[in-house]
This record gives sequence, C-alpha cells and structure tokens, in this order.
Amino acid sequence: MASMGLDVLGVDASPVAIDLARRGADRFGLADRCRFEVHDLDTGLPEPPWSADSFDLILCHLFRDPALYGQMEARLAPGGLLAIVVLAGPAGKSGGYRAEPDELTRAFGRLRLRDHGADSGRLWLVATRPRPQAPSS
Ligand SMILES: C[S@@+](CC[C@H](N)C(=O)[O-])C[C@H]1O[C@@H](n2cnc3c(N)ncnc32)[C@H](O)[C@@H]1O
Repeated sequence: MASMGLDVLGVDASPVAIDLARRGADRFGLADRCRFEVHDLDTGLPEPPWSADSFDLILCHLFRDPALYGQMEARLAPGGLLAIVVLAGPAGKSGGYRAEPDELTRAFGRLRLRDHGADSGRLWLVATRPRPQAPSS
C-alpha cells in the first residue's frame, strides 16, 4: 500500500509483529509513509493518525472480530475500499477465529460488493463505500 503512495497505519497486538512490519518498511525505503502501532483491536479500531477521520482503504487479513465490522464500514471514506480475509468455519460452527460461510456478505451488505469468495479455508470480500449521490439539478 505504501509503495502505491498511500500513507499507512498498521496495527497488531503483538510487539513482535509490529517490529517486523517496521523493519520491512525500512528495508523497502517506505518508513516515511508507514506508521505501525501496537494496538489491541478488542478496544476498537485505532484513530487515523492524520487529519481525516476515515480511511481510504481498510485491509484486514486473517484477523476476525465481528464486533469490528460496523466500525470498519463506518470508518471507510466515501469511495473507500475494504478488503477482508478471515478463516472460514463450517456452517453453524463459527466462533473464535472462524467465520460463518455468509458472514462477510451479510456484514457488509450495505457496501458495494466488488468481489467475494471462499478458497483454501478462507473467506474474502472486497467492497467499496458508495459516494453520496450528487444532488440533481
Ligand atoms: C493469523 S495472524 C495474521 C497476521 C497478519 N495480519 C497476516 O495476515 O500475516 C493473526 C494476528 O492477529 C493478532 N491479534 C490477535 N488478537 C488481536 C487483538 N485483540 N488486537 C490486535 N491484534 C490481534 C495476532 O497478534 C496475529 O498477528
């Protein structure tokens, strides 16, 4: 994301993961565009460290907490993109890190669905937040 010109905030509860992320950004000369913070997502999504109060892109990879789905949708800027991948569980056996087969499409049904699927024990979804309609003249 940083190599494409985005300012990035990355979070994880593990200081080891955050240290690895910082080193990776350094190695690729992208540290200026990246901020990595130890953050417990049980307390909710972090605030953006820049002036906007929303994110143009939210990427959630292999971390599941349905309590955050509403916040992810709310924090997405108009036109912003959400990409999420979670481990899939069998129907009726979700919980912990494993999602119901239709969990993502149900949770993010108000967004504009770009693509979604299930593969190799994972569910994934890509969606955008619609921009408000311009008033018709
Ligand atoms: C399966 S790993 C995925 C790591 C990374 N996102 C990736 O895709 O390679 C799950 C990650 O969730 C982090 N994690 C678990 N509970 C968390 C929490 N409450 N807040 C923030 N991160 C958490 C773990 O430290 C771990 O790095």
